[in-house]
Amino acid sequence: MNQNILLNEISKLKSKQSQWEPFAWYKEMRENSPVFYDAEQDVWNVFLYEHAKRVLFDHELFSNKKERSLIPTPSKSFDNRSNVNMVDPPEHRKRRALQSQAFTPRSLKEWEPRIQAIVDELIADMEGESTLDIMEKLAIPLPVTVIAELLGVPSKDRRLIKSWSDILFLPYNKEAFVDIDQQKRQAMKEFRDYLFPIVQEKRKHPVDDIISDLTKAELEGEQLTDEEVVMSAIGLLGAGNETTTKLISNVFYCILFDKPGIYQELRSDVSLVPNMIEEVLRFRFTAHMDRRVAQDTNVFGHEMKEGQVIVAWIGSANRDESEFAHAEEFDIHRPNIQHHLSFGSGPHFCLGAPLARMEARIALTAFVKRFADIRPVAGFEVTEHLADSVLGQSLENLPIMVDHNK
Ligand code: HEM
Repeated sequence: MNQNILLNEISKLKSKQSQWEPFAWYKEMRENSPVFYDAEQDVWNVFLYEHAKRVLFDHELFSNKKERSLIPTPSKSFDNRSNVNMVDPPEHRKRRALQSQAFTPRSLKEWEPRIQAIVDELIADMEGESTLDIMEKLAIPLPVTVIAELLGVPSKDRRLIKSWSDILFLPYNKEAFVDIDQQKRQAMKEFRDYLFPIVQEKRKHPVDDIISDLTKAELEGEQLTDEEVVMSAIGLLGAGNETTTKLISNVFYCILFDKPGIYQELRSDVSLVPNMIEEVLRFRFTAHMDRRVAQDTNVFGHEMKEGQVIVAWIGSANRDESEFAHAEEFDIHRPNIQHHLSFGSGPHFCLGAPLARMEARIALTAFVKRFADIRPVAGFEVTEHLADSVLGQSLENLPIMVDHNK
């Protein structure tokens, strides 16, 4: 059986439009087949909030030690001691501790002025433009620059890093499986060859960044090898780049198309920006997480067998009416705005969530202060601007019209 789970073969949503807006299908599944078995790939699927949350946090029943996964990485490439995600507690705690230092509130406080400076530079670069591509100008360069600097990789190489990251985030599909796998292996090799000498150099002359920290860190009394540090760095770049780009692009898409009037509301009260970001995460995240069933169970009323895969459809859980009143509406004033599962739940809760939130908050705050209004360009058709990714269909570019402050 194929080790990569193909979600589009489960949903049978084939058009770009239906993959970009899968929400009607999610609703249908919540109502009619909330626990659904896909026999073709031998995968269980859960769509309700309660179930998805249980899959994410109950590591005794649902394990992260997986042989098959919907994360589209070439075979075994991430299976090493430094991978924080593919392991269960208690071992998980030690691996997570290696990286968590960099994401404490204190470390982030130190990063805030640097992120603000990167944002200010990107916004200054929009000067004098009346139409701009918010992806090219902000949503793509910000996260890749931040994560490169955090790791200690030259941010001048951000285009190179972004191009490898794009390929590693390509989903597999049935038709072009071999070709995509080949591209991924090549990207992984190039990325590794690029990072290896950087890691060796930092081991000799450590500075204040995550790669240097990882070269010094110990796991069970042993330092990580150069190879393990490289894979850890690729893992962090992979986890923190496209995800945050998608968040920032979705913020602008929601302003333009999901909630007319919200831009002026944010301008009149920028303290609403964090709520805006949480609601975008709830409303438009179509990424999902998988686990291996760790023991036979009928916890969801169906017989699941040890070794089978189970997918928590987070995008569907986020629209479950039993958790979120008027879930299909975009509402930045909902009381339980942080309850979405877009950052996961339980021991594997996203390590980079505070960083992603901070980047999006600084970027949106600076933007709304700078521009009087934004509008979609005439004749905008979303399907012409999408590309497939492991996060579902994602905006590749998003042209917008801007009015500068008078
Ligand atoms: C909007 C942006 C982001 C989203 C939606 C997101 C989403 C997620 C989710 C759902 C998980 C849970 C995985 C699981 O349950 O197996 C996760 C884990 C993780 N994320 Fe994020 N993430 C984002 C940004 C970032 C950033 C900026 C970084 C770091 C630079 C990062 C690093 C990680 C790491 C290291 C893990 C693994 C944690 C563990 O397994 O203990 N993420 N993320």
